[in-house]
Amino acid sequence: MTIFKYRGKNLYLENASIDKIAKKNPTPFYLYSLKQLEKNFYYFQNTFRKTSPLICFAVKSNPNLTILKNLQKLNSGADVVSIGELQLALKAGIQPNKIVFSGIGKTKEELDFAISKKILLINAESESEVNQISKIAKNKKCRVAISLRLNPNINANTISKISTGKKSDKFGISLEESYKIFINNIKNKNISIEGISVHIGSQIKQLSPFQKTLKVVDKFIQKLNNNKIFIKYLDLGGGMGISYLPKDTKFNLKEYAKIVDQFNQRYKLKIIFEPGRYLSANTAILVAKVIYIKKIQDRNFIILDAGMNDLMRPALYDSKHEILPIQKNKGKFNKKVEFVGPICESTDKFMTYLNYYKLKEGDLVCFTNVGAYGRSLSSNYNIRPLIAEIAINKNSFKIIRPRQKLKDLIK
Ligand code: LLP
Repeated sequence: MTIFKYRGKNLYLENASIDKIAKKNPTPFYLYSLKQLEKNFYYFQNTFRKTSPLICFAVKSNPNLTILKNLQKLNSGADVVSIGELQLALKAGIQPNKIVFSGIGKTKEELDFAISKKILLINAESESEVNQISKIAKNKKCRVAISLRLNPNINANTISKISTGKKSDKFGISLEESYKIFINNIKNKNISIEGISVHIGSQIKQLSPFQKTLKVVDKFIQKLNNNKIFIKYLDLGGGMGISYLPKDTKFNLKEYAKIVDQFNQRYKLKIIFEPGRYLSANTAILVAKVIYIKKIQDRNFIILDAGMNDLMRPALYDSKHEILPIQKNKGKFNKKVEFVGPICESTDKFMTYLNYYKLKEGDLVCFTNVGAYGRSLSSNYNIRPLIAEIAINKNSFKIIRPRQKLKDLIK
């Protein structure tokens, strides 16, 4: 699935010339293909058609209102992790009964709000949280549906900084404790534990961690069933990885769908997924301009107007985002090139290439696969305004979130 094409020397996204859009908008900016978003959603839904899951888009990967409105039109639900994300999902028109609320530190106010909105499930991550929900529900004289997030103690074999399913990770509740919570709350009039959820990490490319997780979940459900406890929902979280570079292996979503379907033949639970990256990553590029080219003995530094504050992933996780020239110039650099940003930090650097197309100051390039955890992780570091988000609209564009104004940052 790819959304770009070079036509002659120029890079196009859908049918729009990126160069033309950049002439009308100051760089850097995020540029989205809403068509690609739709394509991704349908692909995911179709691949899992036998299981017919509720797809709850992980809002944290891309909390843009237009993106959420487009997903809502496709019948997507939402996975939220704060009152802010919950309010945004509701504002986008996503029905409360398609919203799940994850996170280990939900405050009383956040839980109160979620309960009053009657969302589908609160995924509780500790006994204290379960007790807090129970207390709030008692005050409101209602019964709240929750699920317990299990910690299955599985190594997801992904970047250690985004692994969440090992027993030393702060996420989820151990199997023993979860079981105890189920038993202790059988007669609780204010909460009904209707499901279990798991999310073992992000950017997972292998199937085996998911398979292992299902085995753990299987045993756990059997134990519940043997004790006459039956659940309705199984939330399998997100985490499906994408290929950032052309040479990267692909995650086998079809095989995963088969495994989940087979698993669920026995239990017939309502399956929930919380994909973020898989739906949003390849929907956007980040367009940037070359400010200066600085030559040192062994390399050329290509200094861009986009920095680590606009795209944090390389600095945070050493992640690789391919950089493409918007216009392919003739010839190649004869030394290696290192793309860097303007921020006063050595970690403000991106890709290094050995044989890169010639670039000159003022030329445009773009980072690929930045629709997930791109703009959402960005910051105002160095008093830099958060950059615009623009979407392709036929042959032209529309701004789906304007660039912040500098004057608002220096008030
Ligand atoms: N559900 C829960 C409970 C999560 O914590 C996450 C992501 C997701 C779903 C969505 O995961 P996905 O399908 O996008 O992998 N900033 C990092 C990723 C952190 C993910 C945090 N949790 C990055 O840029 O790689």
